[in-house]
This record gives sequence, structure tokens and C-alpha cells, in this order.
Amino acid sequence: MEIIITKNYEEMSKRAASIVFSQVALNRKSVLGLPTGSTPLGLYKYLIEAHKKGYIDFSEVKTFNLDEYFRLDRSDPQSYYYFMMENLVNHINIDTKNVDIPNCMLKDIEKECEDYEERIKAAGGIDLQIIGIGNNGHIGFNEPGEVFSKKTHLVDLKQDTIEANARFFSSIEEVPTQAVTMGIQTIMQSKRLLLIASGLAKAEAIYKIVKGEI
Ligand code: PGA
Repeated sequence: MEIIITKNYEEMSKRAASIVFSQVALNRKSVLGLPTGSTPLGLYKYLIEAHKKGYIDFSEVKTFNLDEYFRLDRSDPQSYYYFMMENLVNHINIDTKNVDIPNCMLKDIEKECEDYEERIKAAGGIDLQIIGIGNNGHIGFNEPGEVFSKKTHLVDLKQDTIEANARFFSSIEEVPTQAVTMGIQTIMQSKRLLLIASGLAKAEAIYKIVKGEI
């Protein structure tokens, strides 16, 4: 594990972008795992900028997203599908058929979870998985203490997660109470993992990840 400490959010985002940049430069057919949230916005901004300058070509890149709200339509601005389109996909030359996000509108969600794992496997696995972390240490929608053996699965969101996410919705009743998330096993199977975190509120979670018990 390598720990990179940067001066501020901008530097963190630039550094993270340079890691993605070299991954894609080394392998045009890279498979990336991507998160949503406020943390990766700077990283996505730098990737878009680099693409516009012609430095990075996403035409053969494949992506898999970490999670998605259950039963929130893809056209809903709060869906993670919508987030990815708005904040990255629509601004780079990635082929949208190579952008994979759990489809939480499918009737048989168990099957979609299994299929998602299969699709990751069929793509050759994730070369570089980027993740954020919640203030309490959650990763994707995996709460701290989740077993490591979990693959992509449907989770019931904890009350504090629902409350934390309510800021993006007009009322707390609109926040989905379930989500599909890659499991810790899915995440740990990635060939490389880049966790990005910024701000005092994340300090304790990062301290525990680095110095604490598993
Ligand atoms: P944030 O979310 O990037 O908006 O802080 C991270 C998370 O909750 O996983």
C-alpha cells in the first residue's frame, strides 16, 4: 500500500487523474472501476480536461460503477447513472456501451447482481478501481464491518446513510432505502485500488484504515 498525501483537494484530484492517465496510457483497453460522490468530481474534471487536450483516449476503455440506488430510474438526476453521464461520460469519448452500472430497474435484481459480477469477469477484471470513503468508513454501500466475502448485492441502507444522502433530495422520504453495491470481495479483486479522500471529516476513517484493525 502506498499513501500519497497532497496539499489540498485540487492536488489530490490532479494526482488521482495522473494515476488514471498512466493506467489508460499503458493499456488503452483498461477496465476502470468508478465511484460517484463529491470526492471524485475534481478527478473527473481533470480527466475531461486531459481528454479535451487530446492527452487521453477513452475509446476502448470499459468502466464499472461501484453502486446504484435501487429502483431509481436512470433518468432521475439523483441516480448514479445520471451522475456519471453528467460528470464524466458525456464529456469524453468513451463508448456508452462500455459504461456499465448496475441496472436497478430490472425485475430480477439478484440475477442482475450475479450478471454484474460475470460482466466484470468477462471484461478481464478491473485494472484500476477508484473508490471514495464515507465519514464512517463505508465503501460503496458497504458499511464498516461488512464481511469480505460479499460480491455485488442488494443492501438496505442504514438510517444515518439515508439521512446523509437526504441533502441531495427534496425530502428524506424520496431517498431510496436500498441500493446495489459491489461487495468488498468484488472491490478487493481489482488489480489496483485507488482510494481518494479529502477533508477533516474523513480523517478518522482514513486513520482507522491505515493504522486500525481490519
Ligand atoms: P463523498 O462520498 O465523496 O461525497 O464524500 C463518499 C462516500 O460516501 O462514499
